[in-house]
Amino acid sequence: MCGIAGYIGSREAVPIVMDQLKRLEYRGYDSAGVAALDGDVTIVKSEGKLRSLQDLLSVDSPSGSVAIAHTRWATHGGPTTRNAHPHADQLGRIVVAHNGIIENYADLRRSLMDDGCTFASETDTEVLPHLIRRHYQGCIVTALREALRRVRGSYALTVVCADEPDLILAARHDSPLVIGLAEGESFLASDIPALLPYTRSVLILEDGDLALIRRGSVSLIRTADGSPIHRDPVQVDWDATSAEKGGFEHFMLKDIFEQPETLRTALRGRWTDAGLNLTETGLAAAAAAAIRRIYLVGCGTAYHAGLVVASTWERRLRVPVTVEVASEFRYREPAIDDTTLVVLISQSGETADTLAALRLASAAGARTQAVVNVVGSTLSREADGVLYTQAGPEICVASTKAYTAQVASLSLLGLWLAELRGQIGDAELHRIGDALQVLPSQVAELLQQAPAIEAAAAELERFHDFFFVGRGLDYAVAQEGALKLKEISYRHSEALAAGEMKHGTLALVTPEVVAIAVATQEALREKLQSNIREVTARGAQIFGVVPPDCGELAELCRWRIEVPRTEPELAPVLAIVPLQLLAYYVARIAGCEIDQPRNLAKSVTVE
Ligand code: G6P
Repeated sequence: MCGIAGYIGSREAVPIVMDQLKRLEYRGYDSAGVAALDGDVTIVKSEGKLRSLQDLLSVDSPSGSVAIAHTRWATHGGPTTRNAHPHADQLGRIVVAHNGIIENYADLRRSLMDDGCTFASETDTEVLPHLIRRHYQGCIVTALREALRRVRGSYALTVVCADEPDLILAARHDSPLVIGLAEGESFLASDIPALLPYTRSVLILEDGDLALIRRGSVSLIRTADGSPIHRDPVQVDWDATSAEKGGFEHFMLKDIFEQPETLRTALRGRWTDAGLNLTETGLAAAAAAAIRRIYLVGCGTAYHAGLVVASTWERRLRVPVTVEVASEFRYREPAIDDTTLVVLISQSGETADTLAALRLASAAGARTQAVVNVVGSTLSREADGVLYTQAGPEICVASTKAYTAQVASLSLLGLWLAELRGQIGDAELHRIGDALQVLPSQVAELLQQAPAIEAAAAELERFHDFFFVGRGLDYAVAQEGALKLKEISYRHSEALAAGEMKHGTLALVTPEVVAIAVATQEALREKLQSNIREVTARGAQIFGVVPPDCGELAELCRWRIEVPRTEPELAPVLAIVPLQLLAYYVARIAGCEIDQPRNLAKSVTVE
């Protein structure tokens, strides 16, 4: 979802901000633009991918050592060049790039038009440069603060003014923004990977901050009252290359193959020979004992991670555990009080609906616990406690390694709660702990089956309807598997609880559809097998994700990937891996744009 980049230093700025935008491509976008300052401001914009903008710049690029740039994911107004950012005031001297939504833009636009402003785009953003101009009396900082006082909504924004050429302004409210500091130069971006080639010294903006960015220095003030803020930069120790493709054809494949390592990292220091230690969550015995109800809340893949652990949590903790998508949870007045634990699951920690769910839960007195990947994200800062999934930067829009790290982290958290509440014995705890520790090598073993999955994908690519079926935890995996396939290969794929097939969907089963059967749960295998028979009887072919030696079920599968045995509650971490690879290979064979699927965004910071 939209990316912002900025540079102020002594080098030519445009190539640097273009490189930064490239590193933010994973966020999803449909147009892009750049504004460079050199006496005047020159803006170049283009619809489509960055290469279209690059083509324009290679004919005629503005020069200057100060620039801001933007990739836009359309919300108000179509994905056209006219609507691409940055946007300027009528004099073309105050220029803004913005992520988020200005909710009262229609009123502001009307009032600005009454003042004689003409608008060049259909965007909500364009009210900002005009509003800043209205309040400009020689100080861009004051003008921006005055403008923001009148704005409702969410934003990460950056502003340059031709009359104050040694300054970039940045402000944040509900949308991420980070600043990189180096000797004599400063960088601005929506996300840390865009800073890593230039610096490790990063200042993370918080809601209500306004940053005055100069060459190699930054001062922060509060937007509301102008008072100074002191905050030290953090040193980011990510390897710069870990944010790049590292030899793989796509980020998605790299993310999938990194899973043994990300799982090891998620477990490191938390499950040791001495047992389980999750004191970092801030959850201690008294708080755990007080819990009477739990909600697991997230969006997309993060929601699916909640689905995987919910029944295990409920079985052990003996309290109701409900999993919900954040966009529903936030509007339905769920029963929450101070005996409720609300666990917010998110890769980015910036998803608008998940943040809204967090705020609703906090306001109702619940204890909130974030299970989140991005360090310093809004979710991690606002929740009562945090468990970082430690999956590293995930670049591909479709989530893979973040999901398995979420499931592993949530499994640990469930065990931690059970231990604090005295609901798990030592023997059981150690049995699951031991199984957790071998998961990374079992995932590595599964990854070796990639060639077999690729071969199956070559045959499956011609199909356009896929039904993912499973029972119990396998149904939760089926839902994530179906999401992976649909988002990157554009095949129609839907997940079903296998027992529900005969209540409607069986009517769609013909030799032209494929059923993907997930069958890791031994206790449910025979029931699933009967459901699969009903499907094969109608001519559909089966791709099975099955345990070794699964007898009759194996015979029903046209294609079969065997998943190593583990504790039933951990099997989803293994079962999803072949489905991730299947989605990847079908999409690649079909020639789809894998890392940035059409219409989708990595980080969904609007409702
Ligand atoms: C988008 C992404 C998904 C992700 C979902 C939730 O739809 O494309 O991969 O699962 O948002 O994002 P979050 O950052 O909260 O996990």
